[in-house]
Amino acid sequence: MSKRILLTGAKGQLGSEIRQRVAMMPLVYELISTDMDELNIADQDQVERALQAYQPDVIINAAAYTAVDKAESEPDIAFAVNAKGPENLAIAASSHKARLIHISTDYVFNGRHYEPWKINDPVEPINIYGESKLAGEQAIQRHCPEALVIRTAWVYSKYGHNFVKTMINLMNSRDELNVIYDQIGTPTHAGRLAEICLSAVDQPQFQGLYHWTDAGVASWYDFANAIYTLGSQLGLVHNTCQINAITTADYPTPAQRPNFSVMDCQQTRKDFGFARHWREQLHMMLQELQQEEVNA
Ligand SMILES: NC(=O)c1ccc[n+]([C@@H]2O[C@H](COP(=O)([O-])OP(=O)(O)OC[C@H]3O[C@@H](n4cnc5c(N)ncnc54)[C@H](OP(=O)(O)O)[C@@H]3O)[C@@H](O)[C@H]2O)c1
Repeated sequence: MSKRILLTGAKGQLGSEIRQRVAMMPLVYELISTDMDELNIADQDQVERALQAYQPDVIINAAAYTAVDKAESEPDIAFAVNAKGPENLAIAASSHKARLIHISTDYVFNGRHYEPWKINDPVEPINIYGESKLAGEQAIQRHCPEALVIRTAWVYSKYGHNFVKTMINLMNSRDELNVIYDQIGTPTHAGRLAEICLSAVDQPQFQGLYHWTDAGVASWYDFANAIYTLGSQLGLVHNTCQINAITTADYPTPAQRPNFSVMDCQQTRKDFGFARHWREQLHMMLQELQQEEVNA
């Protein structure tokens, strides 16, 4: 019998990648896709009504408030979506005996040491977004400890807004770009993360905190250079653009960001399978964008 999945935040990067994959295996999963308009996760009554109406076997929470800088001036909204939302889902999942799969972030760490962050390393967010996501993790641990919480980082996809698409647009419209080189992390394609979420649907034995990113490490400057080189090869970037490495201090933003947020993903690789190097995933995503341009 196919598993019924209630997907929240279905129009976001991860939500869209999940929908794309489920559409290719309709007999395996019955997917109920919702975004803000159909199911506002910050509204406890709406969440409870949705669980009663759909009776899902699994909830995948891909909904979040992801505007890291804006969160500094909108903490109430960030906490409503990233903390109260997961709490509502955890309470409902627990009472309806549904499996909950939730996504968190590398920004729960302060980024002040230079070894990959382990699952049980101390958390200390340095911005409002990170604080709100940590509050979401903690609410889930309180109300639904058997849930799976996957921390990820630097997510991009052909869907939605992200660094890769912003860089391509800027590279095509400017001769020079400044990109930060002293923040290190791991670019992560939402597609492989979507596959991990779906493989977790049928593996309820995997519970608690996990870390998932693609393989390897990069600075934003390395990432931008790879986008430029591969994007030029594929004809997505058709301008000559010089990329300058700058420091975080040269580019002040409302939210502070961790300097080093590479995560140790060994357990996830062991339980859920391989990760491709971020550069290979980037190449695959750019090929998808190129294909869309050809088809347009
Ligand atoms: N993006 C990253 O670099 C990154 C890094 C680390 C972790 N993560 C985590 O990964 C997960 C997926 O991120 P993503 O990049 O796919 O996010 P995304 O593209 O921003 O998608 C989030 C979706 O949630 C929707 N949403 C916002 N508030 C909602 C609410 N109250 N109820 C229901 N839906 C709501 C958004 O709608 P609107 O667009 O209309 O607001 C959007 O469709 C999130 O948990 C995020 O925190 C992301």
